[in-house]
Amino acid sequence: MSDFINNFWNMYVVVLVVASLLFCAFIVLSNRSARPKGPVELHGHQWDETLAEWNNPLPRWWVWLFWITIIFSVIYLVAYPGLGSLGNALGWSATGAYDKEVATAEAKVAPLFDRYAAMDIKQVAADPEARAMGERLFLNNCAVCHGTDARGSRGFPNLTDKDWLYGGEPETIVATLTNGRNGAMPAFGGALDSEQVRDVANYVRSLSGLAADSIRVQRGKTLFATNCVACHGPEGKGNQLMGAPNLTDGIWLYGSTEPIIVQTITKGRAGHMPAHEELLGEKKIHLLAAYVWGLSNKGDGAK
Ligand code: HEC
Ligand code: HEC
Repeated sequence: MSDFINNFWNMYVVVLVVASLLFCAFIVLSNRSARPKGPVELHGHQWDETLAEWNNPLPRWWVWLFWITIIFSVIYLVAYPGLGSLGNALGWSATGAYDKEVATAEAKVAPLFDRYAAMDIKQVAADPEARAMGERLFLNNCAVCHGTDARGSRGFPNLTDKDWLYGGEPETIVATLTNGRNGAMPAFGGALDSEQVRDVANYVRSLSGLAADSIRVQRGKTLFATNCVACHGPEGKGNQLMGAPNLTDGIWLYGSTEPIIVQTITKGRAGHMPAHEELLGEKKIHLLAAYVWGLSNKGDGAK
């Protein structure tokens, strides 16, 4: 199989490699290796006053070393990749070698993963070695979005608090990691005009005790009851089945200022947590879930 986009580069490499091998052979051949018939003579070149060159042949062993390297490179190019996409009789490839190394490494840690996979997530969370493994997995796979300290940032939930969009039970965390999550807050920019959006935004702010315009809060309450309770619940406490956040707890995924809430309501939000099932597999997810659960349950089982 050729890794080149078109055959030109393949041929380019083949021609370069063959030409340089032929050139080396030519250089070796064109140098004299037989003893001259007559007496050995000076070439007439002279350097550094007394350094002169005789027309002695190259030492035979030295010429042979050149031939051996040339023959070696031909054998090498038949056995391993190098001559464009030709040769490679052994079928070696960099990715193949990498896969093999990964497989060996995984086989080494497999018993560890197996041991934790058989344990309850809360028990795993209490095991310092498992937590260290979970942390490394977290840093490699999750920290880009949730931060190295797992405290998240705007749009990326904090995983160290007790506030959950989808739920903080070990099984729920496993489901989140395995299948991913898509938060779907619809855009109300079409259904509500900008005054109504501000009214309902003020009502939302009042739910967690933030400063709000009381007249807008009154109007917003009615709008909330018709438009928002289906997901956020009659009291605005959210619904973990759809990942609708609790709007009363003072913890914000996107922000609590009026302009940000207005933006959330007008344009909607669509937080996306990617599925990790294929990337990590069940056992790593088990460890990671234990690590994440442990972050917000220090003291209850996890140390
Ligand atoms: C591409 C960014 C991204 C990556 C990578 C990512 N996450 Fe997430 N994660 C999110 C977003 C965004 C959400 C919130 C989804 C929503 O708004 O509905 C989320 C939600 C979650 C939740 C649910 C939190 C709750 O309150 O219910 C958990 C748990 C979680 N992530 C853990 C992880 C772990 C563990 C990893 C690493 C395997 C990871 N995430 C990798 C972006 C990411
Ligand atoms: C279809 C269900 C649904 C409806 C209806 C809905 N929401 Fe949401 N809302 C969500 C979801 C899900 C999220 C989380 C989005 C994410 O994770 O990206 C959310 C997020 C929010 C946020 C962001 C909270 C934060 O922590 O930053 C606010 C504010 C909000 N909704 C207010 C409202 C208001 C006001 C209404 C009514 C006008 C409303 N929602 C209607 C599902 C809904």
